[in-house]
Amino acid sequence: MTDELGMMSAWFAGPKAENAPWFAAWLGRIAEDYAAWRRNYFPEDGVVVDSTLRRRNEPFLDAFEDRLLELLARLKGDVPFHSPRYAAHMLAEQTLPGIAGYFAAMLYNPNNVTSEVAPVTVKLELEAGRLLSRMIGYADDSWAHLCSGGTAANIEALWAARCVKYLPFVVRDVRRALGLIDLAPRQADAELLGCSPRRAMEDYAALWRQIRDSADRDALVLNAREAMNASPFNVAERGMASIAATLGSAPVVLVPESHHYCFEKTLDLLGLGRQALVSVAVDADFRMRVDVLERAIDSIEKSGRHVLAVVAVVGPTEEGSVDPVDQIAALRDAREAAGCSSFWLHADGAYGGYLRTITIPTRRGLGEPAAVVKIDGQVRAIDIVLPEHGECAALECMNRCDSVTIDPHKLGYIPYPAGAICFRSNLVKPLMRQVAPYLGDPPGDPDAERASESIGLYVLEGSKPGASAAAVWLSHSLIPLDSSGHGTLMRENIRSAAELHALLESYPSLVERSLGVRAICLCPPGSNIVCYAFRPQLSASLEEINRLNRAVYERFNLRPGERVYEQSFFVSRTSLSARQYSIGTVGPFLNRLGVSARDYERHGVFLLRSVLMNPWYSYAKRRGRYFLSELVEELYAGAARALPGTAGAAW
Ligand SMILES: Cc1ncc(COP(=O)(O)O)c(C=O)c1O
Repeated sequence: MTDELGMMSAWFAGPKAENAPWFAAWLGRIAEDYAAWRRNYFPEDGVVVDSTLRRRNEPFLDAFEDRLLELLARLKGDVPFHSPRYAAHMLAEQTLPGIAGYFAAMLYNPNNVTSEVAPVTVKLELEAGRLLSRMIGYADDSWAHLCSGGTAANIEALWAARCVKYLPFVVRDVRRALGLIDLAPRQADAELLGCSPRRAMEDYAALWRQIRDSADRDALVLNAREAMNASPFNVAERGMASIAATLGSAPVVLVPESHHYCFEKTLDLLGLGRQALVSVAVDADFRMRVDVLERAIDSIEKSGRHVLAVVAVVGPTEEGSVDPVDQIAALRDAREAAGCSSFWLHADGAYGGYLRTITIPTRRGLGEPAAVVKIDGQVRAIDIVLPEHGECAALECMNRCDSVTIDPHKLGYIPYPAGAICFRSNLVKPLMRQVAPYLGDPPGDPDAERASESIGLYVLEGSKPGASAAAVWLSHSLIPLDSSGHGTLMRENIRSAAELHALLESYPSLVERSLGVRAICLCPPGSNIVCYAFRPQLSASLEEINRLNRAVYERFNLRPGERVYEQSFFVSRTSLSARQYSIGTVGPFLNRLGVSARDYERHGVFLLRSVLMNPWYSYAKRRGRYFLSELVEELYAGAARALPGTAGAAW
């Protein structure tokens, strides 16, 4: 246990709610403070629910108590995310400031769709957005807001990308309609289609500046709005199909094989169609291959289609690796310099965006590549593999992306719902602007829109909880988004994942006895997620291997009707399928698992998955508990029991 862990033990309730006494007292104080706020608003108004009425409420209070106790009892069947025994999905404790912020603001029930009903929490949301933008490395002219989660954020990012993609055509049409000098005359369609997002937005801003500075400004504004609406390239008005037909070219979005399934949903929703999603192969560490990306862009353009956006994933749901954002951004720069087409670059950091904190203000590294474990009662050090290669450079280049998704409700340890979408330029705001008379005046000058302090008019969602904004703001302003604060937690998580990976792979040699099974990991963890499968030591078919791992999964998960107190550890599941990952990508893993390419293509591989987010592993070791070692011992025992021919076999 190093001093590096600092104050982390005060950030969470603790596995046994050790911090509950002071924290519960604060929850009570928040509730009292809220009641005082009500009382002090026009105190002379007097009470309405008087004591006579209150006495008559006794039957309701009795029923309230009974029902509430029933709810509390039923909640005991929930999953113990706080426990070091939970190593399954992307869930752990929430920070105490996050809970307190949420609880406090929830009592006021602000709706951040407009500051008319959320004057305080809209400001907090903008401040929270600035904290996240600063963490990414964006400048002050960026724009970030909270949303319900990673799916909504990714949809919004590609919605913006779609809008910006065809903007150069709209700007050209408006200039022509208004008879304004074209700053870039006679540009061919192909050139406009390949325009960089930054340039497209700057040209749009320049057009409006020209209009604003003209003598008959008011007339021009009206005409410009009409011309924008009339442009056959206005995607919001015309729809995607019409634009693709006008251009004679269909859009494509490039994603790594490891992308989250929400991108299929997004393309469906945005009218591009799922088939417009093109998967780019990842390398052995599950990071997007930039050479394959480059070839894919060329072949898409040769086929007459165009690239609407490239998505890099910072922490894929299964592997936690970090795509080489730096190299993808360099590829884009090189293409622009060579006069080739540019593209919108989006980073899906829904899961891994907070890993950036490890590198702020400077890289601090992940520590010694060794961990202390306890196997067969014996405490010893083992070697671990830490993901230091390239990840930092990629994280430090997130600010070169046009948009970044980050989920405070994942590695930000904030209660649901809390996603965030950050845009490099606040020029997207006037482009995304909706007309909603009950929320604000008609659209104004783009520069005024950029500076606007409202949120609801520029975002995908409508009503949204101000409580989430208070949670994110309080937590991130107390626990700094740098390597001395939140980064400590991120480093711990990565080290825990590396320890679990090393334990799973080396357990048979550590115990030096035949176990009948061995665990094969998909890859060393890119951050804090480990995927693995057990295989019998004797050869087995893929169907048998899949059945074995399914049985282990069932043993480490709550079955219907089972009590949570009976479940000693939790892991989650996923699967590899040929639809998502090519043989080229998963070949080395399949070889180690003893599985043929043909069987993989037919059946896919069932995997066990552990997300290591629990903050307590190092603290627990100090008190003699080695939870990850215990988990591995139980996993191996569970797998051995599930082998065919054993008493506990599930097949
Ligand atoms: C990489 C990634 N992107 C997007 C999402 C979707 O996030 P949400 O479930 O908050 O909508 C997830 C969820 O796990 C994810 O891991």
